[in-house]
Amino acid sequence: FEGMTIIELAKRAGESIPVLQEILVNVGEKVESEFDPLSIDIAELVAMEVGINVRRLHSNEGAEVLPRPAVVTVMGHVDHGKTSLLDALRQTSVAAKEAGGITQHLGAFIVGMPSGASITFLDTPGHAAFSAMRARGAAVTDIVVLVVAADDGVMPQTLEAVSHAKAANVPIVVAVNKCDKPAADPERVKLQLASEGLLLEEMGGDVQVVEVSAVKKTGLDILEEALLLQAEMMDLKARIDGPAQAYVVEARLDRGRGPLATAIVKAGTLVCGQHVVVGSEWGRIRAVRDVVGKLTEKATPAMPIEIEGLKGLPMAGDDIIVVDSEERARMLSEGRKKKFEKNRLRKISEGATDSLEPSD
Ligand code: GTP
Ligand code: MG
Repeated sequence: FEGMTIIELAKRAGESIPVLQEILVNVGEKVESEFDPLSIDIAELVAMEVGINVRRLHSNEGAEVLPRPAVVTVMGHVDHGKTSLLDALRQTSVAAKEAGGITQHLGAFIVGMPSGASITFLDTPGHAAFSAMRARGAAVTDIVVLVVAADDGVMPQTLEAVSHAKAANVPIVVAVNKCDKPAADPERVKLQLASEGLLLEEMGGDVQVVEVSAVKKTGLDILEEALLLQAEMMDLKARIDGPAQAYVVEARLDRGRGPLATAIVKAGTLVCGQHVVVGSEWGRIRAVRDVVGKLTEKATPAMPIEIEGLKGLPMAGDDIIVVDSEERARMLSEGRKKKFEKNRLRKISEGATDSLEPSD
């Protein structure tokens, strides 16, 4: 919607120009001519008001794109060791190294590699969280680590994770976990996965399989290397300059500091002090903290951060949009709240249950 004029917007929305002009007047926006480009937030607000489903299109044209770290999510069957694996990986993370232990829980962490490259792990495992975020348009995950217990083998939720990843077009790296167990049979796991249509590398495909033990902490460096290799093949890049496009990974209410959101920047740079709309909430970013809990001025792509200063609690998967002023932020937030409320009421009247809430 960036730079769209009211004429183009009217065409897209199937609305008359006077109707859109009236909306502009209602939100206090002066548009001199219908040939003037609208700012992105105004265009979005107007589009929302006339009921078109808005997916913000940020233009990367002309902007410099640079390599960025991969964002990784862990999935797998219940009890196969997702949390244990994340904990083990977390201990090799930047936070663990710098802070001499993990003091605070950010919902994401970074593992730095000897080569200088790094991997960002999202600490929100679970298919529900993954699909809820995807359903809300928050495709933050680049790679899925599929955890399969070597003694238990492929189970229903293993397959569910595979289909989620496939549906999202996200490549899988398999971590065969619990390889320390006497009953471990990694070869059986591989055959099971292959028979489920996963094209494993050792069988001529491109899905890497790494044998690990989260408890004995073996194979972790190999897993990290595998993820790095996968990331390299994907040639992940992002625009660094310009307004941030970011997503909430997790949010919580802190007694003293108010609503806190763990977020990942997808593109651009988020800067402390900016006015933002987050889902249907808004605020001015009062503080940005990195994975070590250190205050920082700005956040670049794939960097997990915690932001403070929102007026309300956002939801996982909410988008973070930077706007020019408090007034804009408030206006866009109100517009979105109205729209969400309308949708909610419509859903209730249709008798549909809200299936987008993560149950994990
Ligand atoms: P849910 O979140 O409940 O789905 O489980 P999870 O996948 O997070 O598994 P979790 O990490 O909680 O581990 C489940 C059990 O398996 C725990 O008792 C762990 O100690 C054990 N476990 C996890 N990884 C390993 C491993 O590498 N070896 C052995 N022997 N046990 C493990
Ligand atoms: Mg767990």
